[in-house]
Amino acid sequence: MYKLALAALAAAALSLTACNPPPEQNGQSGADAAAEPRTAPVLASEDARDIHSYARPEIARVKHVALNLGTNFRDKRLEGYATLDLETQSDGDEIILDSKGLEIEDIVNPQGQKLQWQMGKADPILGSPLTVKLGGAKQIRIKYKSAPQSGALQWLDPAQTAGKKRPFLFSQGEAILNRSWIPTQDSPGIRQTWDARIVVPQDLRAVMSGEDLTPEGEAAPGGKAYRFRMDKPVAPYLIALAVGDLKFQSLGPRTGVYAEPSMLKAAANELTDTEKMVETAEKLYGPYRWGRYDMIVLPPSFPFGGMENPRLTFLTPTMIAGDRSLVSLIAHELAHSWSGNLVTNATWSDFWLNEGFTSYFENRIMESLYGRDRAVMEQALAWEDLGKEIQGLDGGMSSPASRLHIDLAGKDPDEGMSGVPYDKGAAFLRLIEAKVGRERFDAYLRSYFDRFAFQPMTTNVFLADLRKNLIKGDQALEGSLKIDEWVFRPGIPDNAIAPQSPRFARVDQAAQRFAAAGTAPESLGFADWVTAERVRFLNALPRSLPAERLADLDRALGLSNTGNSEILFAWLRLAIANRYDPAVPAIDRFLTSMGRRKFAAPLYEDLVAQGAWGRPIAQRIYAKARPTYHSVTSGSVDKLLNGGG
Ligand code: BES
Ligand code: ZN
Repeated sequence: MYKLALAALAAAALSLTACNPPPEQNGQSGADAAAEPRTAPVLASEDARDIHSYARPEIARVKHVALNLGTNFRDKRLEGYATLDLETQSDGDEIILDSKGLEIEDIVNPQGQKLQWQMGKADPILGSPLTVKLGGAKQIRIKYKSAPQSGALQWLDPAQTAGKKRPFLFSQGEAILNRSWIPTQDSPGIRQTWDARIVVPQDLRAVMSGEDLTPEGEAAPGGKAYRFRMDKPVAPYLIALAVGDLKFQSLGPRTGVYAEPSMLKAAANELTDTEKMVETAEKLYGPYRWGRYDMIVLPPSFPFGGMENPRLTFLTPTMIAGDRSLVSLIAHELAHSWSGNLVTNATWSDFWLNEGFTSYFENRIMESLYGRDRAVMEQALAWEDLGKEIQGLDGGMSSPASRLHIDLAGKDPDEGMSGVPYDKGAAFLRLIEAKVGRERFDAYLRSYFDRFAFQPMTTNVFLADLRKNLIKGDQALEGSLKIDEWVFRPGIPDNAIAPQSPRFARVDQAAQRFAAAGTAPESLGFADWVTAERVRFLNALPRSLPAERLADLDRALGLSNTGNSEILFAWLRLAIANRYDPAVPAIDRFLTSMGRRKFAAPLYEDLVAQGAWGRPIAQRIYAKARPTYHSVTSGSVDKLLNGGG
């Protein structure tokens, strides 16, 4: 059904792009017009084609995945069965699945007869196509095991957990990692319902991104079984599993948090506002459609701040600051329940539709709950980071990586993950909001989520919809937005509205006073500032401070010992830029105690950039830390430390 809707919209996109030719056709000049990709879809299927999946959904597609898996902690493998319900076209008698490192034992039809299958050549990024001859079967059962090095899964030793006594397992599916534990069509445009039965050791609990049918577990040979169900079709990257010594605490009628017992109280305290956040989000963009919104605080090696797994956001413990100052992360993951999980990027080139919309929505939730000041400060921090990040790209403001719609041919989607889809995306939506007015834009966004609920979305289909339902032929508005420049061209268009925070203006003055006039750190006002102001202050200090001044700062403000990960991160970056030796133990502690890529990768990169001083420090710390990191983080840091610098 969604396929039809998408085709109709893409047709609309086609006719629209016919009157609004893409930039290279209407002669608009750009920094690198020659390298400009075609922006108009040639065919509906071209626009939505996912180059990161082997699937051919037009021939045969997976509708439902039923997992029945055991967790083998000794061998670090998930082992068991995936039963797939298929929809096939009359002329198609084979299905192509995605797989990476899976060991397939056999594949049978509902009568138990073995089917022919073939594992194609392994691509280092995509893995292998798994082609199954169906013989008319509409359901197949695959007996398989995941590899111990499965990219999605991290198997933690007890020492890597808060409790130190029991092992832990979690999965991370986005972008294309789930094919390393689930043999299905791993493409965000191929939505699937799913259910699962997971057998775990007696003393552990399994949780998943679906309805929990057995909170207490059921007796099963060799342990306990937990069953789950997701009856709404979701992109397969959103199927997620965690297994550990977990306890649950309710936070509100439809919200709660799972964590290891020793973390539960701090986690629940940090997340107290979650129920209010869900209500706030609903007021903005319509009903929350997933039933419950729970969260799980994972061990510190979780490579992201958060991951928007439906009904169960996965979280880093580094978001626990003690004062709820980092909860924009929750606003962000919650917002994905609309932008991302309901309306989903059709391909990874459309990733900004997930993250840009979500970053915009996140900030609207923050503004509603905590006021405009805080929201604008958070915008301004992101804006500053975005500018620096684009400047640092190869080619700077004309780097193709600074486009919203990106070309990922031959690349891992992970390479497209920068601040650009998030913060340039959010800035684009803020610009539209400013031009049409908040009321109109909110009404449009709400209708957009309703119209495209449970469907994949391409950039061109979104732009066609925006023109049809918001711009409606208003030439002055169309001209003032510069849509094609925002979406298909590098850099930041000149109509961008830079966030202005008066509170940051004062913080910047304090930073100048401290740097130039040698003002005592105690008298700057730091103690009265919120986290965003503290981070801004540290970012605003010059990268050439004498060691005594840094020592004063650390002593007066307790930076090396702060429990706030964002402040610690900003401080350590400042310290590294100044080659400040006394901070090295704190750098070591931080990098060996958590594996969140957003913190780890820049710190290693900063160290390497300090050449003879920093590189050996990076190498020494990484030798200890690497075995504790998830593949997402070690993959990025490996590149930094081995590839030049
Ligand atoms: N969906 C992302 C995480 C992600 C992106 C995983 C791409 C894999 C590939 C998640 O919603 C996210 O953006 N997390 C951010 C936090 C956010 C507040 C910017 C993070 O992890 O830092
Ligand atoms: Zn996100």
